[in-house]
Amino acid sequence: MLKFKGVSKTFGSITALEDIDLDISKGEFVFITGPSGSGKTTLLRLILRELLPDKGEIVIAGEDITKMPRKLVPELRQQIGTVFQDFKVLDERTLEENIEIALAVLGISQKEWEKRIENVLELTGLTERRKLFPSQLSGGELQRVSLARALVINPKLILADEPTGNLDWETAQELMELFKQIHKEGKTIIMATHHRGLVDNEDFREIVLNRGKVTGESKDDEDEKKDKHVTGEKDEHEEKDEKVESSDESEKDRKEVADLKHKKEQTKDKIKLKDKIKMKFKK
Ligand SMILES: Nc1ncnc2c1ncn2[C@@H]1O[C@H](COP(=O)(O)OP(=O)(O)O)[C@@H](O)[C@H]1O
Ligand SMILES: [Mg+2]
Repeated sequence: MLKFKGVSKTFGSITALEDIDLDISKGEFVFITGPSGSGKTTLLRLILRELLPDKGEIVIAGEDITKMPRKLVPELRQQIGTVFQDFKVLDERTLEENIEIALAVLGISQKEWEKRIENVLELTGLTERRKLFPSQLSGGELQRVSLARALVINPKLILADEPTGNLDWETAQELMELFKQIHKEGKTIIMATHHRGLVDNEDFREIVLNRGKVTGESKDDEDEKKDKHVTGEKDEHEEKDEKVESSDESEKDRKEVADLKHKKEQTKDKIKLKDKIKMKFKK
């Protein structure tokens, strides 16, 4: 369902990913591991088309998304659930409203809307806390809210970027159980993590990145045996340069703060849209 063919991504003089080939099947659970700075987040952002590669193809469900017209990108993102390390919840909204935000853009019936909310609340064990605000929730609960929000759009694919990064070991394991349950129900999951304990506990395929290259792969299934190879280190990485090319469409919101602000604004727009949709249903 997802293929990378010779994908490279640089930021100025930094090579974040180099000549990546990947083939992830529908229903797979794949860990992306590797040290900080090895390219994990860049890989996920490419799948969301938050970034465009310098070269290569990224094929999702038969379509090269690098060639997809911009106006179709929102549609692409509506099929991908995302979970991030820092939860990305809105503090001034209840847990339930935080989940509803994701539904606002989908244009589904009120009945379907309510059904989906009930389902994800139950699945993530949050039904009783639905009216609480983020400040009243623990880290583990907040991450379950993120997961519920990712799931409520009924995505084909779930991308998780260090989802356990802010959780203690026990809570991380609980969250992992939830991811496993979702995987069992048929979802394709790609999880970037350097939580070694979690990876070692599972039999899932692991793709190891190092300085932007795939330096190892493990897969238990017999189908699709991959080459295992270890590549040398590249000097060009030593001199890190935060400069980026301004021509890259993805770089406009380069600074993380700006990025977050932007996301918050977008979310606010979505809430407004959601309210509008709700009003419509009430009529
Ligand atoms: N927007 C960006 N601008 C400049 N450099 C970036 C940007 N995003 C990532 N990088 C660089 O690309 C490399 C890979 O980063 P990243 O994908 O975030 O790694 P990881 O998620 O594995 O920690 C790092 O050297 C990082 O500094
Ligand atoms: Mg990262």
